[in-house]
Amino acid sequence: MTHSYLDEFQPPQRLLLGPGPSTVHPRVLRAMTLPVLGHLDPRFFEVMDDVCEMLREVFHTTNFMTLPLSSTGTGAMEAACANVLEPGDTAIVCRNGYFGGRLADIAQRYGAATTVLDFPWGKPVDPQVLSDEIKKHPRVKMVGVVHAETSTGVLTPLKEIIDLAHRHDALVIVDAVTSLGSHEVQADAWDIDVCYSASQKCLGSPPGLAPISMGPRAMDVLHARKTRVRSFYFDLKDLESYWSQTRAYHHTTPISMTYALRESLRMMMEEGIQNRIKRHARVASALRAGLEAMGLGLLADPEFRLNPLTTVLVPEGIDDAVVRRQLSDNHNLELGGGLGDLRGKVWRIGLMGEGAREANVFTVLSALEQALSRMDCEVAIGASLAAAQRALVEFDG
Ligand SMILES: Cc1ncc(COP(=O)(O)O)c(C=O)c1O
Repeated sequence: MTHSYLDEFQPPQRLLLGPGPSTVHPRVLRAMTLPVLGHLDPRFFEVMDDVCEMLREVFHTTNFMTLPLSSTGTGAMEAACANVLEPGDTAIVCRNGYFGGRLADIAQRYGAATTVLDFPWGKPVDPQVLSDEIKKHPRVKMVGVVHAETSTGVLTPLKEIIDLAHRHDALVIVDAVTSLGSHEVQADAWDIDVCYSASQKCLGSPPGLAPISMGPRAMDVLHARKTRVRSFYFDLKDLESYWSQTRAYHHTTPISMTYALRESLRMMMEEGIQNRIKRHARVASALRAGLEAMGLGLLADPEFRLNPLTTVLVPEGIDDAVVRRQLSDNHNLELGGGLGDLRGKVWRIGLMGEGAREANVFTVLSALEQALSRMDCEVAIGASLAAAQRALVEFDG
């Protein structure tokens, strides 16, 4: 079929079961078709206030500085580093996957002498190793950690790491891009200094906005800066002036995306955050049971597995990309491949936000059974579906 820019674009109806973006509910898509208001229209200010209020609920925070940045998750990583760090500062970034590496890269670019603390991909960050490292540096300004490593499917428990960093007077930047909206993220109770996420994973919107929240310790650091924030676009003090009562123009906010985020957060409020977390845990347990029944190995240890994203080891002799192409061509289904060191070695299956539904578990298991069988990989047809059913019944008690 030839493609011309004169044709109306008709995307295929893909089932997005990769690492994000996740499938967007029609209610959220509908919100994006509402008339565009000006970014200084008082009626749009109502939308902004609603979004900030709901984001505070989702982050479990009273932080005044809680707003959606006009960017994807990477922009939030930039904003976190740009506002907290100044040239000459010292940072330690824990790297147990691809995104820890990105955070370290960004911290370096904003002028911090950055130590990258490595942990095996597939394992969580070990607080003891961080404790040994932090003692080697006289004044660490920032410790960076990825709560949910989307590249490995690992969830790192945060409380011990945060308390440790605070004992050494360091701020903690937490990447909650894949955990917000699917796992517990308690910005205030855990005393997180800077926490950010992205709209397109477990929050249920398209890509384009990145919620960020800054606690009092980080705000003090921001107000005490000796140098200007190096990024105009991500200067949080200026952004706060627009998002709070001053309403001073900073840049033209993506209006339709803000409608979308409002609607997806409203859906989360209707469902209840705890119910949503439970829904992610429930479907993840069924998916894992099904994959294991198919004879596939999982990368992450059971204790630290991420619910919205499961990393599956590609069986010996199977070409990861060929299977993913089959799933796309025959089932209109998108899975993720491995990033960095895990390229070609894992599939990443996301059950995120609206995608975290029982029906999707059976769709992906059935499609994988078929694809692997066609490639002469020994698979007991139907076994994964039965195991997933059992896991669901067990989960429901
Ligand atoms: C843990 C984590 N951090 C940061 C990012 C970067 O976000 P984005 O791709 O939206 O810029 C991602 C994206 O997958 C992620 O999974």
